[in-house]
Amino acid sequence: MIPQSFIQDLLARVDIVSVVEPYVALKKAGANYFACCPFHSEKSASFSVSPTKQFYHCFGCGAHGTAISFLMEYQGLGYVDAIKELASRVGMTVPDDRGAGGAASAEPVVSPLLSVLSKAAQFYREQLKNNSRAIDYLKKRGLTGEIAVRFGIGYAPDGWQSLHSVFPDYTAQPTLIDAGLVIKHDEGRLYDRFRDRIMFPILNGRGQIIAFGGRILESGEPKYLNSPESPVFEKGRELYGLFQARQAIRRAGCVIVVEGYMDVVALAQYGIEHAVATLGTATTAAHIQTLFRHTDRVVFCFDGDAPGQKAAWRAMSGSLESLADNKQIAFLLLPTEHDPDSFVRSQGTAAFTAQVENAQPLAEFLISGLKLEASLASADGRARFAHESRTYIERVAAPLLRLQLLKAVSEVAGFTQTELEIAWKLKPALPLPRPEPAQKFAPLPRKRPSTVIGALLRLVAHHPVLATRIPITLLPTDTPEARALAALVDAIDIGELSGQIGLATVMEYFRGSPHQPVLAEQVRQSLDEEFEGHVTEQVFQDALNRLRWSHVDQEFQTMHRKASQQGLSAEEQSRYRDLIQQRAELSRRTPVSDS
Ligand code: UTP
Ligand code: MN
Repeated sequence: MIPQSFIQDLLARVDIVSVVEPYVALKKAGANYFACCPFHSEKSASFSVSPTKQFYHCFGCGAHGTAISFLMEYQGLGYVDAIKELASRVGMTVPDDRGAGGAASAEPVVSPLLSVLSKAAQFYREQLKNNSRAIDYLKKRGLTGEIAVRFGIGYAPDGWQSLHSVFPDYTAQPTLIDAGLVIKHDEGRLYDRFRDRIMFPILNGRGQIIAFGGRILESGEPKYLNSPESPVFEKGRELYGLFQARQAIRRAGCVIVVEGYMDVVALAQYGIEHAVATLGTATTAAHIQTLFRHTDRVVFCFDGDAPGQKAAWRAMSGSLESLADNKQIAFLLLPTEHDPDSFVRSQGTAAFTAQVENAQPLAEFLISGLKLEASLASADGRARFAHESRTYIERVAAPLLRLQLLKAVSEVAGFTQTELEIAWKLKPALPLPRPEPAQKFAPLPRKRPSTVIGALLRLVAHHPVLATRIPITLLPTDTPEARALAALVDAIDIGELSGQIGLATVMEYFRGSPHQPVLAEQVRQSLDEEFEGHVTEQVFQDALNRLRWSHVDQEFQTMHRKASQQGLSAEEQSRYRDLIQQRAELSRRTPVSDS
């Protein structure tokens, strides 16, 4: 674990402007810098970098964070690597306390599976350099060296135990079997799963290698051999190329889902970097949910042959529950003789991009698919068509899309929309499938945050020094905002965070904690408020007064109720008078109407 104190020191030395500047053309305007956002495509400059806050924020797409986040997002670095990179720029060395006294680590323990997979990938990459047959094959397929590096492509040599040279304990290493790299023969003999194959490493969302796909060089069966599922690899969740494509997806505002490894690689070589592939499986709801976390538009691009059409239909059907009215899914079926790889190589980037832009929207694809199967000439056939449609429409939870489908079906079938609704007694749409287990924390309850707490949270996030002046006993704990504020005040009180730090350090301190999204939302709301010092003080005083008032008011209300119902003891009467006075005093100092 990297100590918080190190991160505080690091952020105090690094200047976010000089971190962002090499990649983004920043222009100074007032106290801040502006540019077109590197994380989504835009024409006006909504991306701002604040040197005082050491924070960047895009008013267009909402991307935001510290110098550490910037490197993670922009360069695709992991958390630790981003810190190492920044540290090396300012001449600091990241303390390495691995194995020191068994201190708990914030980074999850690297699974032994991950470490053997990464070692194997390195071996395969090196083998590719020495194997002219493999290099010739890739050249013949039109791959550049650059793109092979981008995707970490390698070569598994021909031989039963090639991996023995990198794993001296090959025969006594059950991890190699668990990782799917080695197969145990009936008589207990061990041999490499991948032999004489081009190796495509499959990365997870954090950029770790979790599996491989291996292609045979000539023709033979199977053409692709994939790693079996393992504790780190679940086929129906992972997408090939997603890790490399993240920024391009954001820039393009869309992701293209294709069928093959080679398709992803070829498209990237032709400048279409926002493509990913399923791993020889049908598209699952988990895939679609993952993709919708990255973008609002998913375009499925399948081969034009019969299996491609079938795969497209399956993908459509599997996505119905995950649709929302602000999300789009479209389908692109290539001409029968092509897959995306051959298409882009023969027709070029512009032609492929044009196809993607003209992809068929889901509703159209669904209705025209159903129409193909129906005999619409007869009343009977039209009723059957409507009946068939129903099973699909019922699974759509997005209200507008559902309405649109209903309308289209009723037009084709010759019923009115109301007739269909009544005939089908349409139930409200099915609930969304359960959220991804990968989502660590429950979504925030949709409750209107208390304005005082929100205001205090924003103030303290920007000016942590104020925390010491907040009477922590007055803080409620009934909302996520209140709990985040209490955690922040607490961290400063006990000295885990120094009061002298700024926003960036606060945000890094809460990285990965359930308070982080709450804090980020408040910060987002307050980035454009830049107060003069005396105004900050006034806003803070005001918020404190409101906090005290609501505390006093609560006790007052209880007493008041008791007074009118059963009367008060002498002691209580004196407290009651006290409260009335405090309340009057506080409400004179500050307007309390909206707290
Ligand atoms: P394709 O046969 O379309 O492969 O299978 P491709 O990517 O176009 O490969 P090239 O161009 O012939 O080299 C699509 C995907 O289906 C899975 C792989 O994930 C492949 O990329 N597949 C295919 C297998 O898992 N096993 C196979 O034997 C074949
Ligand atoms: Mn192909």
